[in-house]
Amino acid sequence: MSDGVEQGDYFVIRALENGVQVIGMTRGTETKFHHSEKLDKGEIMIAQFTEHTSAMKIRGKVELYTKHGTITPLE
Ligand code: TRP
Repeated sequence: MSDGVEQGDYFVIRALENGVQVIGMTRGTETKFHHSEKLDKGEIMIAQFTEHTSAMKIRGKVELYTKHGTITPLE
């Protein structure tokens, strides 16, 4: 890929409860869900923004680590 999206940022998600969903959304003119991954409590996912994935939606209680900082659950 010449535009470098395969070198996209990584992020790490740690599920703090069962049934967390990590939903990948497509890159390009149409923004659609393309993959949903289920994590249970304690499971960790490391993933990347790619040629196919430009956005992510996360449902559930997680700790999220990105180069922009760490996001922890609200009280
Ligand atoms: N096949 C997807 C891709 O290469 C896999 C993927 C990468 C993904 N990052 C993701 C799926 C984040 C869900 C969430 O883009």
